[in-house]
Amino acid sequence: PSNEQDRAKWAAGTAAIDAYIQDGMKLGLGSGSTSHWFVRALGEAVENGLDVVGVPTSTGTRDLAVEVGVPLTTLAEAGRLDLTVDGADEIDADGVMIKGGGACLLWERIIAETSEKMVCVVDESKVVDQLGAFPLPIEVVQFEWEATRNAIGDLLGGLGYGEVELTRRMQGDQPLVTDSGNFIVDAHLRAITDPLAIDGKLNWIPGVVENGLFGGIAAEMIIGRTDGSHEVRD
Ligand code: A5P
Repeated sequence: PSNEQDRAKWAAGTAAIDAYIQDGMKLGLGSGSTSHWFVRALGEAVENGLDVVGVPTSTGTRDLAVEVGVPLTTLAEAGRLDLTVDGADEIDADGVMIKGGGACLLWERIIAETSEKMVCVVDESKVVDQLGAFPLPIEVVQFEWEATRNAIGDLLGGLGYGEVELTRRMQGDQPLVTDSGNFIVDAHLRAITDPLAIDGKLNWIPGVVENGLFGGIAAEMIIGRTDGSHEVRD
């Protein structure tokens, strides 16, 4: 870890090994820097004889898993997974999360929904009383994406959020394209009062593929701290 926040992410990611991982498990491998500490530690454990297989939630995590020697499989082969370990951009006391800061929300959601259990690994700055300071990522198809963005604005306005600023995610001077070939629209909601209502309605808009509010997935959390310690909360 090269700085304090990184040390907290390392603490959370690596603690997941001892706290949750057992021989024979089929695992969802999360995306983002905290999850990547987990994947590196998992690689070491595999080198020392641990027998697990993983399904990666992004091409980035797939590449890392190959590099550190974690055997990979697919949901088609594995069926349901025992556990997914993944990060979040925000998580509240009920375990509801905002995900997608790394643009991997679609694969993350497919894999989390196919797991018996999810453990969210975060540094302490991600734990919030109210979600929404972090803009909500919404994955949309490229075709006529402006119309989809406008429909998102109408829906959020109708839910009482007023004129919501909606920005297309960029990567340098080009629009960011996800691992599934879509765009990301970030909704600057500032304070989300009813995450489950938003989650339930957003994905009905034609053109919306997925949104970053993970609600129905009961997540336990490992919170890493800058002094290198961690806390497991279920
Ligand atoms: C990826 O799409 C996200 O859901 C990540 O899990 C999230 O951005 C956490 O990233 P860090 O662990 O790098 O903060």
